[in-house]
Amino acid sequence: MPRTLLISGASRGIGRAIATRLAAEGHRLSLGVRSPQEVAGTPLEASAPLLLHPYEATEPASAEAWVAATAERFGAIDGLIHCAGVFSRAGLLFSATEAAEPERLWTVNLMGPWWLTRAAWPWLVRSGQGRIITLVSMSGKRVRGGLAAYATSKFALMALCDCMRQEGWEAGIRVTAICPSWVNTEMAAAVEAIPPQEMTQPEDLAAQVSLLLDLPTTAVPFELAISCQRER
Ligand SMILES: NC(=O)c1ccc[n+]([C@@H]2O[C@H](COP(=O)([O-])OP(=O)(O)OC[C@H]3O[C@@H](n4cnc5c(N)ncnc54)[C@H](OP(=O)(O)O)[C@@H]3O)[C@@H](O)[C@H]2O)c1
Repeated sequence: MPRTLLISGASRGIGRAIATRLAAEGHRLSLGVRSPQEVAGTPLEASAPLLLHPYEATEPASAEAWVAATAERFGAIDGLIHCAGVFSRAGLLFSATEAAEPERLWTVNLMGPWWLTRAAWPWLVRSGQGRIITLVSMSGKRVRGGLAAYATSKFALMALCDCMRQEGWEAGIRVTAICPSWVNTEMAAAVEAIPPQEMTQPEDLAAQVSLLLDLPTTAVPFELAISCQRER
């Protein structure tokens, strides 16, 4: 069943792969991007029905404006797919030059999805079968390798997913946290321990999202933990 879906972070990486797949499947997409030129000229831009709208995850007013424009264009919103996110290696004992990193990550990775969900919530309730799919991370489930700024932002995002699930349940809203380890995108480009082809591929996450959107309200999983490595 085609849905009207907002996708953040669709300019590249996982969000782009999800948008490409869902556009081909006939969903009505509203893509929130910082630089619309990133999508201009790609097959995605030509797919219809599609709305491209400016979106800056650090600004609550940007979420409100994007939701309002989507509602005006399509008259409904059935789902949110939160893909915008940032990574940093800032650890527990972050350096002086990294002092702003924890707050930057908490703002983009946690407050961005929070503000966007809050703005779209009345529409998801009205849908009666709203869906929220959030790109969290294995770093939202376990702590490894001293990524304190990133891990704390993603653990908090997992808690936010649980709050959405609890508060949306009676209205038919279902929430899935997708928790991959390394995925072959720009975010993982500096990783040397695993070759890109051995990472999870963004197109395979897009296939999971496609399946999630097909599932009835009675069968939506809370969480998909997907690691390209053995987890210990
Ligand atoms: N790649 C991995 O290994 C991995 C693993 C687990 C979880 N994840 C999570 O999956 C999500 C997508 O990651 P990815 O691998 O696709 O990363 P990516 O290739 O670096 O893409 C990140 C996306 O987020 C957008 N974004 C960043 N800051 C933003 C802001 N302030 N406002 C609006 N958009 C912003 C970027 O837009 P611009 O093009 O404008 O910068 C881009 O579209 C993230 O939440 C990430 O934490 C990734």
